[in-house]
Amino acid sequence: MGYKAKFRVWRGDAGEGELKDYTVEVNEGEVVLDVIHRLQATEAPDLAVRWNCKAGKCGSCSAEINGRPRLMCMTRMSTFTEDETVTVTPMRTFPVIRDLVTDVSYNYEKAREIPAFDGGDVKPGEFRMQQVDVERSQEFRKCIECFLCNNTCHVIRDHEENKEHFSGPRFLMRVAELEMHPADVHDRRQIAQDDFGLGYCNITKCCTEVCPEHIKITDNALIPMKERVVGRRYDPLVWLGSKIGVV
Ligand code: SF4
Ligand code: F3S
Ligand code: FES
Repeated sequence: MGYKAKFRVWRGDAGEGELKDYTVEVNEGEVVLDVIHRLQATEAPDLAVRWNCKAGKCGSCSAEINGRPRLMCMTRMSTFTEDETVTVTPMRTFPVIRDLVTDVSYNYEKAREIPAFDGGDVKPGEFRMQQVDVERSQEFRKCIECFLCNNTCHVIRDHEENKEHFSGPRFLMRVAELEMHPADVHDRRQIAQDDFGLGYCNITKCCTEVCPEHIKITDNALIPMKERVVGRRYDPLVWLGSKIGVV
C-alpha cells in the first residue's frame, strides 16, 4: 500500500544550503533512492544526486539518512515508520558540489599514492597462492568504493587538517591487502605509518559498522597491519639498523 512520506532533503551548493521539506509518494518495496527519483520527477527536477546501479554495487549513492551514512539504493523505506520524517543529507566529510553530490576526489588522490603491487621477478606460473591468502584478498576486493567508511571515520570527519596525513580506512585496507599479499615484494609497514597515517586510527570500528559489503575493515585489515608495524619496530635487527642509521 502506498503512502505519502515526509522527506527533508539538503539543497544547496558549495557556498550554502538548507534542509527543504517535501511530501512524496512511496510505494511498497521502494528504497530511499526511488523516492529521491520521484522527487526529481515531480517537485524538484534540479535536485542533484549521484547514482548508477541501484543494486548496491557501484558505490555512487552514498549519503546520510537520518544521520546514518548509508547507500540510498539499499535503504528500504520499510525501515521507517510512515509518519517518520526521512532526512537525507550529503556525506559530511567531503565538500558538497550540489545537493546530495559531494566531491570525493580526496579518495582517488589517496588511492593514487599507494605503490602498486610488485611481484618482483616471479614469472607467470612460478608462484602458487594458498587458498587462505586468496580468501583474505577476496574479502578486501569486495569493496565497492562507496567511501562511507572514510566518510564516517572521526579522524577526518570533523578534522579537515588530518586529511593530508590520513588516507582513511578504505586505503589503509588497500595498503594492508598488499602488505599481506605473499607475492608482493614491498615492505609497506613503514609507509602505512608514515605516509598513510595508520597511527591516527584508534580502532573505533565505526568504519566497519557502516560498510555495506560487511568487510571487517578493522579486525581483518587495520589491526593486523598495526601488529605488523609494531612487530617491525621491536625487531632487534630493525632496532640495531635504526641506531646505526641504515633502516
Ligand atoms: Fe565502502 Fe566498505 Fe569499501 Fe569502505 S570498505 S569504501 S565502506 S565498500
Ligand atoms: Fe577510523 Fe575505522 Fe580506525 S573508523 S579510527 S579507521 S577503526
Ligand atoms: Fe549503485 Fe547505490 S546506485 S550503490
